[in-house]
This record gives sequence, C-alpha cells and structure tokens, in this order.
Amino acid sequence: MKKIALFGNPVYHSKSPIINKIFSNNTNIIYSYTKVNIPKKNFFTVSKNFFYSGGYGANITLPFKKKALHLCDLLTKRAILSKSVNVITRFKNKYLLGDNTDGIGFINDLKRLFCCYTKKKILIIGAGGAARGIIPQLLLYHNKITITNRTIEKAKNISKEFKNLGKIKYIKDINLCKKKFDIIINATSCSINNKIPKLSDNIINSKTFCYDMMYSKNKTSFLKWCSKKSMNIYDGLGMLVSQAAYSFFLWHNKMPSIDLSIKILKKCI
Ligand code: ATR
Repeated sequence: MKKIALFGNPVYHSKSPIINKIFSNNTNIIYSYTKVNIPKKNFFTVSKNFFYSGGYGANITLPFKKKALHLCDLLTKRAILSKSVNVITRFKNKYLLGDNTDGIGFINDLKRLFCCYTKKKILIIGAGGAARGIIPQLLLYHNKITITNRTIEKAKNISKEFKNLGKIKYIKDINLCKKKFDIIINATSCSINNKIPKLSDNIINSKTFCYDMMYSKNKTSFLKWCSKKSMNIYDGLGMLVSQAAYSFFLWHNKMPSIDLSIKILKKCI
C-alpha cells in the first residue's frame, strides 16, 4: 500500500485527508494518507525520514511549499515557474519529483464554474504563496493581471518576477483604480480572520466574477463584500479538491471525479 503524507504546520484544520478518502472510495484505490505536523525547523529531517522509510508521495502545505523545492531531485516546469511545490511523487522508484498543482487546480475550477479564463482583465489581491501558485497559469492563458497587496513591495516584486511570462503590473492604491475587472481573486489570508482587504467599489460590477481562494462553511467576508455588487461569487473549495485530484493523478495515474468529490465534501464539512 502506498504511503502518502501531508506535511505542514499547522495541519489540524486540513481537509486533505477527507478529500483523499473520498478519492479512494471513488476510484477503489487504497493507500494511506496521514497528516504530519512538522515543527518549522525540522522540515528536511522529518520529510527525508519519511521518504527513506518507504514514503511514496506527499502534499506540502504552508509554510513549507518553498522549502520543498530543495527537497526534490527533479522539478516540473510548473513548480519551477511558481517557485513552490505542493506535491511530491517518487519517480522511477529513485527520485523525488516536485510539482505544483495549485495553478492547474485553480484553472480547472474556473472551468467548472463556467468562467471564461482567457484574455481577461484580472485583479489579484495579495502577493503571498497563494498568488504565486496561480499567476504562471493565468499568464499562460493570456490574461492581463493587475496585482495589489497591503505590503506594496511584495506586489512590485511579483510583477517584476513574472513579467517575462505575460502581462502583469502592480497597483499601489486600489482606491485610485477606475478600471472594472472581469475577475477578482482574493489571494490574501484575510478571510481566516473574517477580515477583508481594502477595496474600492470602483473595481467591481454585476458581471465581475469574484473568487476567494479561501473557503468556509458560510460566505467568506470577501465574498460578502463582493455580493453587494455581483452575484458571481465563489470560494476556494473547488480549487482545493481540483489541486488534490491532480496530486492523486500523479501518485496513482487515475483521475478521481472532481464534481462528485466536491458534492460529497460539502456534505461532510
Ligand atoms: P503565504 O505563506 O501564502 O505566502 P503570506 O505571505 O502570509 O502567506 O501571504 C498572505 C497574504 O495575505 C499576503 O499578501 C498578506 O499581505 P502582506 O504581504 O501585506 O502581509 C495578505 N494579508 C494577510 N492579512 C491581511 C490583512 N489583514 N489585510 C490585507 N492583506 C492581508
């Protein structure tokens, strides 16, 4: 039986074990999937031990996605471009292959929600790991990205870093922005604390597609704010399941049903 783990800190809140249980039932593939909370300084020791002792694969969550780049022997283009790894697979029984399925998981969720995701004007709020994970894929589809962040230096750095992949610029003060966006993505962690990033009504209209990369049982505070103007509001549950499904595919060479898994997950949480 393949041994797979989720490495992060904290991991107590993670839905990944439930999602993997749903995938397992859905595909009849049996494997172990355990959460491992790793003290921040011990990432390399604990994860290397896991793979030395027969571990087959892992999901990597905060705060180790960047560190995981250095654990792997090989990296996919997606991992290199986003500079982070959220899934590791043993390759040819020898190497550790690092990949990033956040971007493809996000695009897949836009598809599922019938959101057109090419050549759109997109605003990304936040410039941490979550934003980094989706930007390369969005640029691949010729979208025009504007990024803003509380700490503006970080938005500036990201826009510099990715400008060779497509159209991306940063904006200092969102209140001065007169442009309406087709898609607005909240890539901050504000919703965890029921907060919203500073936003201006100017940027949104009734057609704007609003996506919070966080999810919660009730509407997130960001989506509540968006719902004053737009009915197109979605949280990140679908993306969570999609990125997990692409991880599952890497480990087992079979794709679970994403729609069915989302339905079942919604009933479980
Ligand atoms: P990660 O580990 O994903 O990189 P992070 O670097 O903490 O996480 O990024 C979280 C994002 O949420 C950042 O863009 C952060 O803004 P700063 O770069 O200014 O810290 C944003 N964020 C968190 N709390 C926020 C708040 N109360 N208002 C606005 N932005 C917030």
